[in-house]
Amino acid sequence: MKMPSVKDIIALTLICTVIAGAGSVTGCKESKKIADKSGAQLWSENCQRCHNTPAPKTFNDEHWKTVGMHMQTRALLTDNERDKIVDFLQSFNHL
Ligand code: HEC
Repeated sequence: MKMPSVKDIIALTLICTVIAGAGSVTGCKESKKIADKSGAQLWSENCQRCHNTPAPKTFNDEHWKTVGMHMQTRALLTDNERDKIVDFLQSFNHL
């Protein structure tokens, strides 16, 4: 039998991380309504799909509002979801 290569190990690790990650974020049985989700949850589920989001303190409240409007169309968010995410990101400027 051949030894697993470094590539195999990396691939396996990736697969495990993805499975574990998906389990902890959504849970298989959990069918929580989107409307019940918090801004933090919506942010983590939607905003890192395409890029790493900058730290919340990178932008002031006005800028987050603008970013929210731009990214709403990209992430296909409802107004309510966008507002929750923007509120969540702005809240770091008020700690
Ligand atoms: C479908 C892909 C996609 C999703 C989902 C997405 N973005 Fe983006 N985002 C982009 C692209 C592409 C750019 C760079 C081009 C641009 O600014 O339009 C970008 C740029 C940004 C920037 C940089 C603006 C700047 O001037 O540096 C921020 C901040 C940002 N996104 C935040 C978010 C947040 C918050 C969410 C979640 C609501 C989100 N993005 C979801 C694709 C996406």
